[in-house]
Amino acid sequence: MRVSVFGLGYVGCVSAACLASLGHEVIGVDVNQVKVDLVNDGKAPVVEERIGGLIAEVVRTGALRATGDVREAVMGSDVSLICVGTPSEPNGSLCTTYLERVTEQIGAVLAERGGRQTVVYRSTMLPGTCLNLLVPILEKFVGGTAGVDFGVAVNPEFLREGTSVRDFFDPPKTVIGELDAASGDMVAALYEGLPGEVFRVPVPTAEAIKYADNAFHGLKIGFANELGAVCQALGVDSHQVMDVFLADRKLNVSPAYLRPGFAFGGSCLPKDLRSLVHAAQRADVSVPILSHVLPSNADHLQRAVELVERTGKRRVGLFGLSFKPGTDDLRESPLVELAERLHGKGYDLRIHDANVSLSRLLGANREYIETRLPHLAQLLADSVGEVLEHAEVCLVGTKDPEVLSALPHGDGPLLIDLVRLPDADARRTEPGYVGLAW
Ligand SMILES: NC(=O)c1ccc[n+]([C@@H]2O[C@H](COP(=O)([O-])OP(=O)(O)OC[C@H]3O[C@@H](n4cnc5c(N)ncnc54)[C@H](O)[C@@H]3O)[C@@H](O)[C@H]2O)c1
Repeated sequence: MRVSVFGLGYVGCVSAACLASLGHEVIGVDVNQVKVDLVNDGKAPVVEERIGGLIAEVVRTGALRATGDVREAVMGSDVSLICVGTPSEPNGSLCTTYLERVTEQIGAVLAERGGRQTVVYRSTMLPGTCLNLLVPILEKFVGGTAGVDFGVAVNPEFLREGTSVRDFFDPPKTVIGELDAASGDMVAALYEGLPGEVFRVPVPTAEAIKYADNAFHGLKIGFANELGAVCQALGVDSHQVMDVFLADRKLNVSPAYLRPGFAFGGSCLPKDLRSLVHAAQRADVSVPILSHVLPSNADHLQRAVELVERTGKRRVGLFGLSFKPGTDDLRESPLVELAERLHGKGYDLRIHDANVSLSRLLGANREYIETRLPHLAQLLADSVGEVLEHAEVCLVGTKDPEVLSALPHGDGPLLIDLVRLPDADARRTEPGYVGLAW
């Protein structure tokens, strides 16, 4: 394919050189003439493992050249791959100026170029940037419709500086946010033959994936470092701890606990986080991530309360009460906390949880209810139907099959989904349904 690559920084020059070595005919474009000249001399404009040799090779064979002339590049290519910078503004917001400028420049040339070109954004940008900001610019300049007269895709980049050439040829994944199938096909063809799973998703999903990845990477590093500092203060070898931690592929380094849902609770996580943070504070170790986990959890619970408030309804149903499915353990159950908060705000509440019936509760659980939610007995309903009949708005905090099969579609109470119901995909487009975080 004939590809123009806009921006010859870290991402652009690695992408340009690697795509050229895959057999594509590549033109690199940059506003910085020094970078253009360096590439044309067969030299890398950035310092990276293997990039020097690769650029020398592909420039020598003619597979890669560079220019400052946007028109020349766009006229002679089927795909424009945009790799310009998206730095932070002083207030932390994303600077889209370079994206907007390059989009205008490409759009102006596309207006006079025949045939369908595909504009592919590789720069990191917030969800909505492509469809709400850049596509309108393209449509205005081209005088046509995206997905019809020209293609648009978002193809975020997951290479790590330092090993980016190696990562290009062995990527963790390829993500293609496609406006239409033809646009996605063009991007897929660019990387044909490379290993790793290819994910074809809507454009805003592709934009968001990059942020999910980088936020998680930062969180992981911060978590490991904070834990290291606490361990050190407590006289424990943090690397030994993490060796064992990492060996657990079931609960730790795994998909467990990584799907948005309701707040956590129970008799262990809150207690253990509190005592770990307390131990860190006593040892004068600052642990901002660890000490904000419980406040983050409390904010998440508050989101559910606010969703109920926003409906303006007063008669509320709640399915589920124990801290997780298949148990009657109510200690520090976030659903108990939710029920208590709604009850305290004067909502007319009915609760059903098949595992929790007051007559069956014993010992600590019974005592817990009696101290934390003394009015529970009046609020508990024996059947799913009783709650549905009572409620104008229902919070679903369980995937109990009896509850799932009874939930109405559009013609009953409003549903607030705390657990991502199995049919949430379909329900998301129905009126009267809202997901807690999806
Ligand atoms: N550096 C990384 O490891 C990395 C990894 C993944 C994603 N990203 C993302 O990729 C994007 C590019 O990052 P980078 O580190 O390569 O940036 P960079 O600053 O190194 O390079 C950007 C290049 O774009 C050029 N440019 C600006 N406006 C232009 C225009 N109108 N036409 C042509 N060229 C233009 C600049 O002169 C510069 O050479 C950013 O959105 C970044 O967040 C970077």
